[in-house]
Amino acid sequence: MSTDTFPIRRVDHVRHWVNNARQSAFFYQHTFGFSITGYSGLETGSREDAHYLLEQNDLRLIFSAPLVPGHPMAERIGHHGDFVQDIAFEVDDVDAAWKAATDRGAKSWQEPKWLEDDGGRVRVAGICTYGDTIHSLINRDGYKGKFLPNFRAENQPGDGIGIIEVDHCVGNVELGKMNVWVKWYEDVLGFKNLISFDDNDISTDYTSLMSKVMSNGNGRVKFPINEPAPGKKKSQIDEYLEYFGGPGVQHVAMRTDDIVYTVSRLRARGVDFLKVPRSYYDMLPDRVGTIDEDIDVLADLGILVDRDDEGYLLQIFTKPITDRPTLFYEIIHRKGAKSFGKGNFKALFESIEREQAVRGTL
Ligand code: FE2
Repeated sequence: MSTDTFPIRRVDHVRHWVNNARQSAFFYQHTFGFSITGYSGLETGSREDAHYLLEQNDLRLIFSAPLVPGHPMAERIGHHGDFVQDIAFEVDDVDAAWKAATDRGAKSWQEPKWLEDDGGRVRVAGICTYGDTIHSLINRDGYKGKFLPNFRAENQPGDGIGIIEVDHCVGNVELGKMNVWVKWYEDVLGFKNLISFDDNDISTDYTSLMSKVMSNGNGRVKFPINEPAPGKKKSQIDEYLEYFGGPGVQHVAMRTDDIVYTVSRLRARGVDFLKVPRSYYDMLPDRVGTIDEDIDVLADLGILVDRDDEGYLLQIFTKPITDRPTLFYEIIHRKGAKSFGKGNFKALFESIEREQAVRGTL
């Protein structure tokens, strides 16, 4: 018998609330190579908000924007800037999932309801997690329309760069709140704590943070949760919390099976990444042993490597993709490794601190 107390099929989509969904969709199409495959707005009968669906392999993003003055979304976007508002789960039984979560203490965002159009109907509900972030619960089994009712199909292909799916989504929460949310994911969603990092693992001369990685029953959903730890100066988590105006999603990691290709294309399209010093690559062979990739190529692209007991992984982090130093992306390529790049933390945080120093927020 399954011991999974909250069965989740997968991350269904990641929804962003933004001021201008049309421009966001264009950005993600022309940089990350997503195809615009669905749209809902005035033309489809959505009178108060517009939504663009973007897809690349198994990763779906939605960009949602308010259309009218005084829309409740606008107030939250004004507070946070453009932000990840929903990490949605596809589940077998929306009603059972919503009831289980709310019985175990989750605050409801949306009671189970049907969304309907000519293609049939989709059951949706939602629960609140940290800050203004929610987890939608969705089941569209048998639905024949595009994505969700009242979306129309769009055919605006992007030039894909090999992004396959969401690998993990990271939340930043306030000092002292990491264990509160760890317990919430354990109690409410039946997640397990896979890995913990304390401030000895993740510290530099200036900043430190604590992190615990939570994973769901089938292991497909992985949510690291960070909190700041006291350091000599302001940590990157403190900077995030200040500019975001509370806890929220810090980064979404997108998985690729060819990181050299993916990152080459992103760089060619002008996406900025954190830089690590060349000395990082001098030490790399001693640290990770033999790898398939050419280290000079990795160094030119700024791709990081880490090894664990099961294999190795390659990863890279964009600079924040909004004006505020809040949301960024990771591109990750796993070659056996199931971990998160602990060996890169120090080099990475020193790089983030150089950026913070330029921003005057260190
Ligand atoms: Fe990550």
